[in-house]
Amino acid sequence: MAARQDWLAGPGAPLRGELRVPGDKSVSHRAVMLAALAEGESRIEGFLEGADTLATAAIFRSMGVCIEAPSAGVRSVHGVGLHGLQAAKGELDCGNSGTAMRLLAGLLAGQAFASTLIGDASLSCRPMRRVLDPLGRMGARIESGEGGLPPLRIHGKYDLQGIDFNNELASAQVKSALLLAGLYACGETRVREPRPSRDYTERMLAAFGWPVRFRGGEAALEGGHRLRATGVRVPADFSSAAFFLVAASLVPGSDLLLRGVGMNPRRTGLLAALRAMGADIRIVAEGEQGGEPVADLRVRHAPLHGIELDEALVPDMIDEFPALFVAAALAEGRTVVRGAGELRVKESDRIAGMATALRALGARVGETPDGAVIEGGRLHGGEVDSLGDHRLAMSLAVAAQRAGGEVRIRDCANVATSYPDFPGHAAGLGFGLRANV
Ligand code: S3P
Repeated sequence: MAARQDWLAGPGAPLRGELRVPGDKSVSHRAVMLAALAEGESRIEGFLEGADTLATAAIFRSMGVCIEAPSAGVRSVHGVGLHGLQAAKGELDCGNSGTAMRLLAGLLAGQAFASTLIGDASLSCRPMRRVLDPLGRMGARIESGEGGLPPLRIHGKYDLQGIDFNNELASAQVKSALLLAGLYACGETRVREPRPSRDYTERMLAAFGWPVRFRGGEAALEGGHRLRATGVRVPADFSSAAFFLVAASLVPGSDLLLRGVGMNPRRTGLLAALRAMGADIRIVAEGEQGGEPVADLRVRHAPLHGIELDEALVPDMIDEFPALFVAAALAEGRTVVRGAGELRVKESDRIAGMATALRALGARVGETPDGAVIEGGRLHGGEVDSLGDHRLAMSLAVAAQRAGGEVRIRDCANVATSYPDFPGHAAGLGFGLRANV
């Protein structure tokens, strides 16, 4: 991870112009993984050049997969087939990425060789039992650090058994880990969830030719098929667009066009939440890219009011709560969030982190175990800590656009995991934001 970095953010100009944010992080991870296991050469376009997805690509290179990068955002992956990976010489470093570690735990459980997955300080505190327990029931042997934390030592073996797993969490990472192990398992692997989580693994497996059955809340496949190389076009990441949807809604005079945003319904919960708060966000062009719905979104300033967030939206906006908290803190009236306890085990404890930071800027925020109660009002300048969490850093930069003074945001280098160009893109649209200060 790069050296510690602070940002100075403060009220800027109305946000105007247009932007295509970088490629979707979830899709980029999966594209490299499946292309590596496929037979033939797959070309990935729109690949996210972020530290998380670069870590995944580096891991597959270290297992013998040739991945060329002919230009920014493009990868040519020479797949080695389902059984063609080789043991890496050292540990596999997932950096900050929970997605990489959890999905790889499943994928590597099916290999003939052993591997060790490690991560940075934040990832080393994130719970892994959610994948270790069901993978263990499939026959995987994985040792973890104390309390089910990384590092993970995976003793690969071929004789995994399919599982019918009722997850009590809606988690695409858990579902995907089991489906990837299921590629190597005997019989059927089926995952059920209380609410549907993002379905990129299922869609992409189908695109690579693996038979998979899925509908909201359930996915199933059988071992013993093959993946065939294909082209992947990665849509722009809704989660990166989210910061601009909130910022343009909040800053008077704003009128922004966000191009080619991934609109998979399992990702767009924030759109529904912002619209319920009074946001003016219009879909001006709809299309499809690589089997995923995409759209151009036009967002204009509009006065926002507080809402009681519908709990059913939580999985569809699980990465957007820091941005929603900012919208709520600057809206009129009270916003209540419940059923979002998972936020406490993301890259940071996002409930505590956002509550502390927004309070430091004058907001009234009450924390609950699984959410928050936020009274909308005004914010003043001050100093806040992003806790080394990319989404906190970018959300707090959005908050600063409507603060009464300048905001120093500490520890922002982690933005490189998902959106290295954020400071430049944001400043180009009118944000008051200086990085590296
Ligand atoms: C992801 C799933 C989500 C999300 C994460 C990426 C994925 O996690 O928070 O940023 O790519 O599958 P959970 O599935 O654990 O909710």
